[in-house]
Amino acid sequence: MDRPIPHIVVEDLTMAYGSVVIQQDLNFTVNRGDIFVIMGGSGCGKSTLLRNLVGLVQPVKGRVLYNGTSFWDAEEHERENLLKKVGILYQSGALWSSLTLAENVALPLKEYTALSDRTIRELVSLKLSLVGLAGFEDYYPSEISGGMKKRAGLARAMALDPEILFFDEPSAGLDPVSAYLLDELILQLRESLKTTVVVVTHELASIFAIANNSVFLDAETKTMVATGDPRYLLAHSDDPKIIDFLTRGEGRPQSHRVNTDRCSAGDHQ
Ligand SMILES: Nc1ncnc2c1ncn2[C@@H]1O[C@H](COP(=O)(O)OP(=O)(O)OP(=O)(O)O)[C@@H](O)[C@H]1O
Ligand SMILES: [Mg+2]
Repeated sequence: MDRPIPHIVVEDLTMAYGSVVIQQDLNFTVNRGDIFVIMGGSGCGKSTLLRNLVGLVQPVKGRVLYNGTSFWDAEEHERENLLKKVGILYQSGALWSSLTLAENVALPLKEYTALSDRTIRELVSLKLSLVGLAGFEDYYPSEISGGMKKRAGLARAMALDPEILFFDEPSAGLDPVSAYLLDELILQLRESLKTTVVVVTHELASIFAIANNSVFLDAETKTMVATGDPRYLLAHSDDPKIIDFLTRGEGRPQSHRVNTDRCSAGDHQ
């Protein structure tokens, strides 16, 4: 049987701002339905990688393929079509403070579809209920908690039924319970909508709770150190940087046994 075409393939990617190279020689694959985590220390280039993946910044070298189509080699209208299938939740959250939650979620629908106001209202209520915010349509961002704002941002990122959701540090600034609930929500969305999810995070609890695939970026060498299921990497990697990161510097105890059953079922190693 033919193997399915991967959802995203990154090939020999080099990213830079001007002449300053941030990361180079990145090669990894995100499969359909993966929850893929971009890991690495602060400033190593995680947000930059996200910007390169979603077409906000053009890579200096290399390719990003969506369903086998090279993003930057495609015609502009094809690039726009590819981007319509992508939802993004930025690191800063960025809801419009002067708009209600319903108006925020409606924005992409108004911009990219010709749907009637009534249909848009119905869709907006559906998206808000998917993230547990039914009944909050008329609230302003200042009137809701940080966790609710993240979920509203998620509802907006999902407005156009994306095939891929990109999140930059979704749980930053959230208390552990809200962060846990957001992880649960991401898992549910993957289950129910079969969305591929790419998440930047350095929250260990989150990484082990949701990810089945990852890439680890190193600021020092300016390249990736590994890719694969984080639990597999924790159990089997010999790279001290990865072990330090995944154990918060405590190291892997000799007796440590990581359950890699789920990892071995995948093909990311
Ligand atoms: N617009 C920009 N122009 C020039 N340099 C930038 C720009 N954005 C980021 N950088 C630099 O690129 C490097 C990587 O930044 P980036 O924000 O991608 O890191 P990060 O891994 O997301 O960090 P954090 O964990 O703190 O969010 C940093 O050295 C940063 O100073
Ligand atoms: Mg960042």
